[in-house]
Amino acid sequence: MSKVNDLLNALAGGRALYEEIMQREGCCTYEVQELYRPEGRRSTASEQAKEYDHVLASGDNLAYMEYLLKKGNMAGKIQIIYVDPPFFTNSKYQASVRLESAKLGKSPVIKTGAYDDRWESSMEHYLTMLTVRFYMMKDLLSETGCIWVHLDWHGAHYVKMLLDEIFGESNFVNEIAWMYKSGGASKRSFARKHDTLLFYSKTHNYKFNILKEKSYNRQFKPYRFKGVEEFEDEIGWYTLVNMKDVWNIDMVGRTSSERTGYATQKPEKLLERIIYACSDDGDICADFFSGSGTLGAVCDKTNRRWIMCDEGDVATSSQILRLSNIERAAPFAVVRADTLADAEKFARSAVSFSEELGCLRMTDYKPDRFELNVNDQDVAAKYISEDGTSAISFWSVDYDYDGKVHRADEVVTKSDFCTLKEGKTHVIGYDVFGNRFQWGKTI
Ligand SMILES: C[S@@+](CC[C@H](N)C(=O)[O-])C[C@H]1O[C@@H](n2cnc3c(N)ncnc32)[C@H](O)[C@@H]1O
Repeated sequence: MSKVNDLLNALAGGRALYEEIMQREGCCTYEVQELYRPEGRRSTASEQAKEYDHVLASGDNLAYMEYLLKKGNMAGKIQIIYVDPPFFTNSKYQASVRLESAKLGKSPVIKTGAYDDRWESSMEHYLTMLTVRFYMMKDLLSETGCIWVHLDWHGAHYVKMLLDEIFGESNFVNEIAWMYKSGGASKRSFARKHDTLLFYSKTHNYKFNILKEKSYNRQFKPYRFKGVEEFEDEIGWYTLVNMKDVWNIDMVGRTSSERTGYATQKPEKLLERIIYACSDDGDICADFFSGSGTLGAVCDKTNRRWIMCDEGDVATSSQILRLSNIERAAPFAVVRADTLADAEKFARSAVSFSEELGCLRMTDYKPDRFELNVNDQDVAAKYISEDGTSAISFWSVDYDYDGKVHRADEVVTKSDFCTLKEGKTHVIGYDVFGNRFQWGKTI
């Protein structure tokens, strides 16, 4: 089947699916299961609502967007939607993690499954998946809002056709080429060193703040033109001009402080540009394919509110860890569909704690499941048989659990310990493979 047919079928099929979803009555509800940085126990309805300005949904974004539109009162409320979906690469992606134990120290880096970008049937399947979601995103956007879709050569030109159709050709604003140095080279083609970001507005009345960039003078010398402001840095003399549509930003390097280990993590600088250009303080920005949580991290640092969603377990745990480490950021909620059975909410990992010398200490842990490269299985097995707690990513403790929402009073990384306090103690933890477990006891 030709790609053009795939495109046409996807447009028709995705549109029909969207209409069917929006016409059917009701949808599942999302319940807050974890609150990070609760800053005291909020009680009033308005304070509760404030907490939901920063929300991480764990699960499929289609069901979550349906909820936001039908029950979450979010139609027309989002200022920016940035999405960096799978690119149609026919590959599986992994996260780099390390096990860590007091006895064995840090393990070499091992790879665990993060997400799958293989589409068995065809491009039609992939484009249909995007079409239905773009329609829902359009409904979520405010009248001054915009959407940014991050792709590469695999699908960008087909997706541009979808967006022309769904958002309207006249709402196309820019195609940004994000250039980077990393990645491979080929003997049979020019080295592929850019991604494509498609930027569409919802209406012609969209918010846009002009950003400036440096433009160096010829020979880096001052021009001294009348009325032109010039500046000098260590390279030479420059003027400030309106930012162009080719962005040269380094990928997140191995030694970068931003690095989470999550495959295909995007640099904060890239998201900063989008957020500064298309939103103001306090606006709501969303990412429904949020991976390691780059959008939320940038929003926290630039005083925007955020909504993120990812269906991957490793993505959810990476995001919670990343966001709970950002200083002075707002509280955030982790939500899941209320239709999930307990077995889906929690892994069957076994955990035990000791209570001694005023501390609650994790003494043993057995991960429920882990998906690893063949080469890494031996390393993981050695660490886990020696010390299961080496697989812990982080855990948090609520000292006064109400039986419904876990309010993280303390977040502890790796298998360390926290203070022991009297009360209904509840622990929620995640291991490096994305397994989520809980433990509770009245102390
Ligand atoms: C390219 S990654 C995003 C990386 C992210 N921009 C970052 O900076 O870390 C794509 C993500 O989309 C998620 N994803 C794929 N299909 C999804 C779906 N239907 N619902 C929610 N998340 C999905 C994957 O789990 C993966 O984490």
